[in-house]
Amino acid sequence: MNKVGILGVGSYLPEKKVTNFDLEKILDTSDEWIRTRTGIKERRFASPDQAASDLAAKAAERAIKDAGISQEDIDLIIVGTNSPDTLYPATACLVQDKIGAKNAAAFDLQAGCTGWVYASIVGAQFIKTGMYKHVLVIGVEAITKMVDEKDRDTYVLFGDGAGATILGNVDKGGLLSSVLYADGSLAEHLILPAGGSRLPLSQEVLDKRLQYTRMNGREVFKFAVREITKVSLNAIKEASLTVDDIRWFIPHQANLRIIEAGIKRIRIPKERAVITIDKYGNSSAATVPIALDEIYKAGKIKTGDKLLMVSFGAGMTSGAFIVEWSK
Ligand code: ACO
Repeated sequence: MNKVGILGVGSYLPEKKVTNFDLEKILDTSDEWIRTRTGIKERRFASPDQAASDLAAKAAERAIKDAGISQEDIDLIIVGTNSPDTLYPATACLVQDKIGAKNAAAFDLQAGCTGWVYASIVGAQFIKTGMYKHVLVIGVEAITKMVDEKDRDTYVLFGDGAGATILGNVDKGGLLSSVLYADGSLAEHLILPAGGSRLPLSQEVLDKRLQYTRMNGREVFKFAVREITKVSLNAIKEASLTVDDIRWFIPHQANLRIIEAGIKRIRIPKERAVITIDKYGNSSAATVPIALDEIYKAGKIKTGDKLLMVSFGAGMTSGAFIVEWSK
């Protein structure tokens, strides 16, 4: 089996910042409530004319440049998203056209907020087996268009953005372990009820606002704390490492309290955790690659560092992988 590593990283955040104070003007909420319950201070909103593929293409171009390859070198594009441009065709196909990756196969992968982690592990298999040389993996969301501005339970949490990586062969290091889980019996706790084949759009659906995300916050919180701990410890074990070997812990940014609970249970020093939720909110499948790009661009990752990337989300799903940095 070939060794697979990350050859390039890129991200894109829409320009429009929405602060908690902005939300106070439209919802019965407060900066104090949002900050203390979630850790979020502001988030980015895609503009009305920006869909997921627009954000994804920008992040992809940056990752391709960082990897020092060309668009034509991409063999496969996998997009993890909960807010595709349309139910079909796949957003990955739209990205393929936008960036001119004319030799690439393309598909979307739906795994809730775990989408980019799932997509990375799926993409890695194509490199390991030698079927492909370069896989572009994107986590992207324009998810603020899918939450109800009348629902304070969800509207304050989410933000938009995209993160991308290029996977390819490496001589040393690379992917050390990966774990993936799903429990469909919990599906109802985090769901966008309408617009699919179960509940097609109708006037009644729109009147009931079922075209927007519904979330049972407390159940998701419990699941998240349990899973962030489980998948992290299992990925560490599978790589035959200890927590002390992990230089950077890059968790899904859903709630600062979930991350802090995970840090405590995993027993990883807080200084090793990457936290971006204060600035960007929960951009769902995009949070982990955006956080990765942030520390990478800040020059904080050294060759040989071991990075633990972890996520959990709708499905409910969870997953993690460890990469030894080989750039
Ligand atoms: N502003 C003010 N008050 C609010 C808001 C708001 N935006 N939202 C809820 N409240 C109120 C509730 O109505 C409730 O009032 P009540 O006591 O009068 O009934 C009170 O605040 C407390 O509500 P709780 O749900 O108990 O608040 P909690 O401390 O659990 O925090 C939260 C809610 C932040 C949603 C938390 O449960 C959470 O983070 N859950 C995890 C879900 C998550 O992260 N989802 C993100 C997407 S999923 C993913 O990424 C996998």
